[in-house]
Amino acid sequence: MKRTMSSSNIVQWPMASDTTFDDQQFAQWRALLEERTGMEVTAARRSFLETSIRQRMKEAGFTGFQRYFEHVSNDSIISSEWYLLVDRLTVQETRFFRDAHAMELVAEHLRAIWQRSNDPVQVWSAGCATGEEAYSLAMIMAELARRYPDQRHFSVTGSDISAPAVLKARLGTYTARKLEPVRAAWQQRYFTAEGNSMVVKPELSQRVCFTRLNVTETEQAPLQNMDVIYCQNLLIYFRRWRRRDIVTQFVDKLRPGGLLVLGPGELIDFKHDQLVAIPNKHCLAFLKKRSDSME
Ligand SMILES: C[S@@+](CC[C@H](N)C(=O)[O-])C[C@H]1O[C@@H](n2cnc3c(N)ncnc32)[C@H](O)[C@@H]1O
Repeated sequence: MKRTMSSSNIVQWPMASDTTFDDQQFAQWRALLEERTGMEVTAARRSFLETSIRQRMKEAGFTGFQRYFEHVSNDSIISSEWYLLVDRLTVQETRFFRDAHAMELVAEHLRAIWQRSNDPVQVWSAGCATGEEAYSLAMIMAELARRYPDQRHFSVTGSDISAPAVLKARLGTYTARKLEPVRAAWQQRYFTAEGNSMVVKPELSQRVCFTRLNVTETEQAPLQNMDVIYCQNLLIYFRRWRRRDIVTQFVDKLRPGGLLVLGPGELIDFKHDQLVAIPNKHCLAFLKKRSDSME
């Protein structure tokens, strides 16, 4: 058996079976992942789980699944290694204005707020990946601010469990190809070309902040009175009961009259006494009842 070194120079002797991702390994890794992130790893995603763990484990200098499991599951500290692994296990596919119908619904909702009052406006992109969704929402708001100029404060908070994704979002640097869904006038207004990249201009980036947040721990987040909570392509990774729990926490974070936008089909047969479903064949969205209309 080959003698190997970990990155911390501790000599490791891999157990003969420790390089095999057997049923027992699968069971303990999926349980750890679900306990800490809420994500359900179905049997169909087993090989994705194995490949991602194997790759990260090698990079971190571990030679066996069990030793690596013991390292990351040590619950006295949630280590930076855990966050790097989680980054590999999450799907961060995203695009600017990914769901045009839902973005239009948000634009309508915000337009009505801009026309109605001077109040500050707060929008939350939950599970924002590398930031495209949050900047899309910010562009909608910046356009409203141009059209209805006033001194109001408006902001977008983007949150994601992946620390590397949040760092990329903060950089706000994208390829020109990534910007294709953004209309040309908005590209010019809100991005600057730097070498081969397009970088979000400070006028827009100063309206957006990004934070690492596990959506199952939303209760602890200092976010409240949101005018819009936008959460798409995240709930699909959770069991149905957990999706309902997360959405119930979103309701607490919405201001009365606030808009909640989910991905079509991501929550079926959901009812909440403070939410009214918006009839729209393209979108799954709800309004939080105002206190005077509560039953
Ligand atoms: C497929 S992307 C969706 C990005 C964007 N919302 C969109 O629709 O284009 C899913 C994102 O959810 C994040 N995610 C997964 N589990 C999470 C959790 N427990 N808390 C917060 N974010 C999570 C992933 O890191 C990933 O960036």
